[in-house]
Amino acid sequence: MTETEYIIECDNLVKIYKTDETEVMALQGMDCKVARGELMAIIGNSGSGKSTFLNMIGGLDRPTAGRLYVDGLDLFRMSEKELVEYKRSKVGFVWQNNARNLIPYLPAWQNVQMPMLLKKRADGKKRAEELLDLVGMAHKRHARLSELSGGEQQRIAIAIALANDPDILLADEPTGSVDPQTASYIFGTFQRLNRELGLTIVIVTHDLSVADKVSRVVSIRDGKISSERIMKTDYAGQLESVGTLDDTAGEAHFTSHEEFAILDRNGRVQIPPEFLSAMELEGNRVKLEMEDGRVVIEAPKKESKQS
Ligand SMILES: Nc1ncnc2c1ncn2[C@@H]1O[C@H](COP(=O)(O)OP(=O)(O)OP(=O)(O)O)[C@@H](O)[C@H]1O
Ligand SMILES: [Mg+2]
Repeated sequence: MTETEYIIECDNLVKIYKTDETEVMALQGMDCKVARGELMAIIGNSGSGKSTFLNMIGGLDRPTAGRLYVDGLDLFRMSEKELVEYKRSKVGFVWQNNARNLIPYLPAWQNVQMPMLLKKRADGKKRAEELLDLVGMAHKRHARLSELSGGEQQRIAIAIALANDPDILLADEPTGSVDPQTASYIFGTFQRLNRELGLTIVIVTHDLSVADKVSRVVSIRDGKISSERIMKTDYAGQLESVGTLDDTAGEAHFTSHEEFAILDRNGRVQIPPEFLSAMELEGNRVKLEMEDGRVVIEAPKKESKQS
C-alpha cells in the first residue's frame, strides 16, 4: 500500500437507496479529497447526504457508483471480510446518540476497554486510561456511564472510537444533543486529537460554530459539494491536557477564511441563495459574460414596456 497525500479520495460518488416504491439519489456525483491529518467539517441541510457520505467512508454501507479510496484502499473492491477488518481498524465512529455503544452500569474505563477485549489486547486497561486522559476524562474513570453528563458521555464515546487506533475519526452530529459550551469543548477535544495524534477527522454537524475549530468547512447540497471555506489559523498557544469544561486554553482560533464555490465535472456551479435573491431575477435566465478574465452573472435587462 502506498502512502497517498489524500487519505480520502472520492470521484463522482453516487449512492442510490432503493425501496419498493422509490429511488433516492442521496449522493449525486460527489467529488471530495481529504488530506491526511486534516480536520474538516461537513455542513448542509437535512437530507442533503451528509450521513450517507460519512457512512460510505466508514464502510457501513456500499456506494452505488463512482470511485472511493480510503488510505489507498478501494472501497468498491473490498470483500465482506476485508470490510469488517476495515471498519475495525481504519475508522472510528462517534454518533449524536451513543447509547448503542455504551454500557451504562459499567465504569468509564471498562467501557473504553471493551473494544480492546474483543481484540484480545493485553495492555487494554492501561490504554483505556491513556485514552481517557486524552479526552480529558481521566478524573472520571471510575464513574459509571449513567452518572456522567451527556457531554462527558460523548467524550467517553470519542475515547472508545479511538480504542483500535483508527487513522480516521468520523463523527456524525457529535454535538447534536449537548449545550453550546459542551459542544465547544467537544470540538476542542477533536482539535487536540487532530494535532496531538495527527488523526484525520471528519465532523458532520449543523452547528455553524464549528467553523472556528476546523481548517475547512465543506457544504453539501443535493448530494454534492457546493462550496467550501478554507480557514486560516492563528494558534493561541499549546494545548494542555484539559480536565474541566471551562479550560479552553490553547485552542486554535481561526481568524479569517476564504470561501469557494465548487465546480462540478460538467462545469456547473451552485449560486448561493442569498446571491440569487439579491439579483432579483424574474425567470430562470441569467446573462453570462466574460470580463477581464472574470465570469459575470447578471440578471437579463428588463424589457421596457411599450405603450
Ligand atoms: N437507508 C435509507 N433508505 C432510503 N433512503 C435513505 C436511507 N438513508 C438516507 N436516505 C435518504 O437519502 C437522503 C440523504 O440522507 P442523509 O441521511 O444522508 O441526510 P443528512 O444530510 O445526513 O440529513 P440530516 O441532517 O437530517 O441527518 C435523504 O433523502 C434520505 O431520506
Ligand atoms: Mg444525518
